[in-house]
Amino acid sequence: MDNAITVKDLSFCYKSKKEKNIVLEKRNMIFQRGNVYGITGRSGAGKTTLLSLLGGLEKPDSGEISYEGKNIESIGFRKYRSKYVGFVFQNFNLLDYMTAAQNVRTSIEIANPKQKEDVYEILESLGITKEKADRNVNCLSGGEQQRVAIACAIGKEAEVILADEPTGNLDSQTAMEIFNVLKEIAHKKNKYVIVITHSPEIAKLCDIEMKL
Ligand SMILES: Nc1ncnc2c1ncn2[C@@H]1O[C@H](COP(=O)(O)OP(=O)(O)OP(=O)(O)O)[C@@H](O)[C@H]1O
Ligand SMILES: [Mg+2]
Repeated sequence: MDNAITVKDLSFCYKSKKEKNIVLEKRNMIFQRGNVYGITGRSGAGKTTLLSLLGGLEKPDSGEISYEGKNIESIGFRKYRSKYVGFVFQNFNLLDYMTAAQNVRTSIEIANPKQKEDVYEILESLGITKEKADRNVNCLSGGEQQRVAIACAIGKEAEVILADEPTGNLDSQTAMEIFNVLKEIAHKKNKYVIVITHSPEIAKLCDIEMKL
């Protein structure tokens, strides 16, 4: 389907020597452009696993995920990830030996080597000053790091933004600001934005809520 990410009969389990832990079984879903999707569900329900599959970080055991009609496996997981996906994950975000500005520049270069963007301008639009942009990302607060991850996604013009509890550790005002940035990207830039949240308030503000 054009203008959609479709999940068809998706199954996934984590395998260890002793047991098979089935996390997702024959799931079907459709995500459409221009919307913010809020994924909710109890701890251990498989939300992060689903996002990893949607981002091409894990391979389904069976079933398929298609990006605008193309199976992401046939696009190539690596190519799909670097060209199309922006991750705003808590532990899988930024290169910790680089500054904020270098992170944004690197993410753009990997996606599209010819593209030139003013990374400071993007960071500034998210409230990261030039001084902070030149700091190592480890010297930024959690909320600032989330914004840098969003700046990476904006810079590379990611079509799909996957955010795993982006507002989890933040005070409610900062959480709302971050959420509004993501919402604006979906609505004004017509991107796919999929957000995992434990917050009922945030879930209500999403265009579509999906419970796992
Ligand atoms: N690398 C792994 N190896 C084995 N089992 C895993 C692995 N990662 C997650 N699991 C298991 O898979 C299930 C789903 O985990 P997942 O991280 O997707 O849940 P979640 O919905 O994101 O939970 P939370 O809200 O706590 O973040 C859990 O039972 C978890 O223990
Ligand atoms: Mg999780």
